Order: sequence, then structure tokens, then C-alpha cells
Amino acid sequence: MKTYPFLKVLIKLYWLLLLIVLGLFTVTITNTFLSEETDKTIAVTTTSKTNFSTISPELLGSVAAGKKLFRTNCATCHNKNMKSDMTGPALAGVRARWSDYPESDLFAWIKNATKLIEAGHPKAVEIYTKWNKVPMTAFNNMTEAEVTAILDYIDSVK
Ligand code: HEC
Repeated sequence: MKTYPFLKVLIKLYWLLLLIVLGLFTVTITNTFLSEETDKTIAVTTTSKTNFSTISPELLGSVAAGKKLFRTNCATCHNKNMKSDMTGPALAGVRARWSDYPESDLFAWIKNATKLIEAGHPKAVEIYTKWNKVPMTAFNNMTEAEVTAILDYIDSVK
């Protein structure tokens, strides 16, 4: 048969063409799949950026941090209902009671009451005398943010 070699070439070409088409098809599918994967990765990254666990307690809410600090440092002497006296006075409305003085005085009291009493601060001496000179623990290492958080928490308890 004279046409046989020609047909053989034609069949070979046919297979080659089919492989090219299949190859292109595979590449297109793979690309679509990959770009979808990339989109998913971006979406996950964006979500984790707003994940609450990455936000510091101060930003999440001073009150939540303040509650924790109050429970561990102050609740042994100050009632957590803020209304009844215990070893120390009820703390509800404490900011208002100190409002004749700059708030830094109240901060100074919480950080080191004895220091303020010894310095002769009128408000400090007044409470100390009223409370039969029971000394309050000093919290020298407490930061401004932590004291603010505790005071915000005290204000939030109704
Ligand atoms: C060992 C007990 C004790 C602990 C712990 C304690 N306090 Fe006191 N606190 C007192 C006493 C007692 C007074 C009353 C004044 C005095 O006698 O020194 C007082 C007074 C105060 C006052 C003044 C109240 C007013 O009416 O003006 C504030 C504010 C205060 N405490 C905040 C705190 C905070 C905040 C903490 C925790 C970080 C804390 N205290 C921990 C015993 C304590």
C-alpha cells in the first residue's frame, strides 16, 4: 500500500494535536485552580489580621483587663460589689471623691498610699485616719494603663 506511510504520519500528527489541546486544557484548569487557592490564602491572612487574639487587652477594653487586675490585686480588701466596705472602703464613685485633686494623685495613692500619706496629702491623710490607719498594699510596679483599667472597671460595676 502506497498511502500507508502517509496515513501513519497523519495519525501521528493527530495524536500530537490531541496532546497539545489536552496540555493547554490542563494548564488552563491548573491556573484557575491555583488562582482560587491564592485568593483563599489572601482571605485567610486578612481575617487573621483582625483576629481578636492579636489585639492587646487595653485595646480590647480597659474594663476587661481592669476586672482581672482588680480580682487579683484589690479584691482581698475591697468588695467586688464596690458598694460595701470590707478591710478597705467600697470603691464606687472613687474618682468623684478625688475630683478636687488631679487624677495623678489618685494614681499615686493606688501605687503607693503610704508615700502619699507621709507626704501629707490632705485627702490621703483624711482616708487613712478615717480607716483607723490600716495600711494599704503598695503597687509600685503597676503601670498607668493598668491603674486606668482598674478605675474604668470600678466605674463599670453597677
Ligand atoms: C491589704 C488591703 C488592701 C488592698 C490589697 C488594697 N487596698 Fe485599697 N485601701 C485599703 C484600705 C484599708 C484603705 C483605706 C485607707 C487606709 O487605711 O489606708 C484603702 C483605700 C483605697 C482607696 C481610697 C478610697 C477612697 O474612698 O478614696 C483607693 C482608691 C483604693 N484603696 C484602691 C485600691 C486598689 C485599686 C487596689 C488594688 C490595686 C487596692 N486598693 C488594694 C486596703 C487595701
